[in-house]
Formats: sequence, C-alpha cells, structure tokens
Amino acid sequence: MATISLEKTIGQLVTERPSRSRVFEKLGIDYCCGGKKTIAEVCEKKMLDPGMLLEALDAEAATDADSAFDYGSMSLSELADHIEATHHSYLRAELPRLSRMAQRVAKVHGDNDQRLQGVSDTFDAFAAELESHMAKEENVLFPGIRQIDGATKMPNLPFGSVANPIHCMEQEHDGAGSALERMRELTDGFTPPDWACNTYRALLDGLHDLELNMHQHVHKENNVLFPRAIEREKELQGA
Ligand SMILES: [Fe+2]
Ligand SMILES: [Fe+2]
Repeated sequence: MATISLEKTIGQLVTERPSRSRVFEKLGIDYCCGGKKTIAEVCEKKMLDPGMLLEALDAEAATDADSAFDYGSMSLSELADHIEATHHSYLRAELPRLSRMAQRVAKVHGDNDQRLQGVSDTFDAFAAELESHMAKEENVLFPGIRQIDGATKMPNLPFGSVANPIHCMEQEHDGAGSALERMRELTDGFTPPDWACNTYRALLDGLHDLELNMHQHVHKENNVLFPRAIEREKELQGA
C-alpha cells in the first residue's frame, strides 16, 4: 500500500505523522535541517531503494500508536508555546546535567580514550550556543511570531521581516546539528566500551536522547513553525 509520493519532502512526512521520524532516525536520514529534501532525492544520495523506504514507512504506520499529536494543525502561537514548554525546558534541565557528566567522564577516563575531552569541549560549546539561541527565539523571534499570529494587518516588527531572524536561527540549527554529529562520531555512535562505568553509560544514553530531542525540536521549527510564519507574514503584507 505505497501511497506516499516520492516527491514529498522528508519534513512534510514527519509533520503529517511525527512517529515517522523513528524510521528516518533508524536509517540515518536527516529530517530536521535536511527536511526540505524529497524522498527521491534522499534515496538517491544515500543509495537507498525507495521501495524499501516506503515499505518501512507503511510498516511504521501499521504499528503507530502515537500519531494523535498533530502539530501541523496548531496555531503559530500554540506551536511556539509547545516548543518552549517541551524542547526548551528539556534543554534547560539536560544541558547542565550532561555538561557535568561529560567533564567528569573526561577527567576520570580521558587517559583510556582521549576523545572524551573532545566530547566534553564540544558539548560545552554546543550548550553555550544553544543557550543564546533559545534566548533569541524566546525574546525576539517567538514574540514576533505570536504578534503576526494574532494580527489583522502587518505589525511593525523590530527586526523587519520574520525571515531575517529565521534565516539566522536556521544557520544556528546547522551549527548545532554539526556539533551533535561530532559527538556521535567521537563516541562511536553513543556506544559505550566494555569498561565504561555507570556515569559514562548514563552520559552516552543522555547524549543519544538529546540528539533525538534536538532533531524533533529543529524539525518543528525549520519545517513547521518557520515556513508557516513566513507564509502568514506574506498574507498580512497582502492584506
Ligand atoms: Fe527552539
Ligand atoms: Fe531553534
């Protein structure tokens, strides 16, 4: 029952059914920063059989139990609220905890694996950039998006068009994505060695969860909230 067009983008597919992100995670397909690519393009680039991918998506649909959460139909303000309450608050709790753990693991086990200091340094730079990124979204971009959501004519935004801060946020998402890829490489795909202690294992487990959460977070911004905000602004400008 292959009903999905190969011309649909990966981002659209996850927006329609968030649980499809599991299939893409498993196959190493980027659905957040790379969400604008079509199935056909991704299959060609990764040398995947499109039929196999469509079958995997069908199989996921058959077992899907949690597709009820439809953020494609939420208002712009509801989406911004949801992202702050779900993803920003998750990061505010996890970033300091994982930073402490990464520093401890690098200090105790750095002699056994020199890459651990790189994990800790990469993590701290990633966390600092993300803190400032979230502050910009919460204090500048999201309030602007809420303003155009409730407006009947184009308001005067301090940054001109929403496309300006959105462009900047998307570039920062790419930077965060690269840092996550680097941490994945340095930890052999978040796989602990046989000799890893519990803190080391918990760190890798936490980093793996963080990667998944960030992919979902960036997907909701890049492929749902941002394009819809740009569309809404165009409507208001034409009004
Ligand atoms: Fe965000
Ligand atoms: Fe963001």
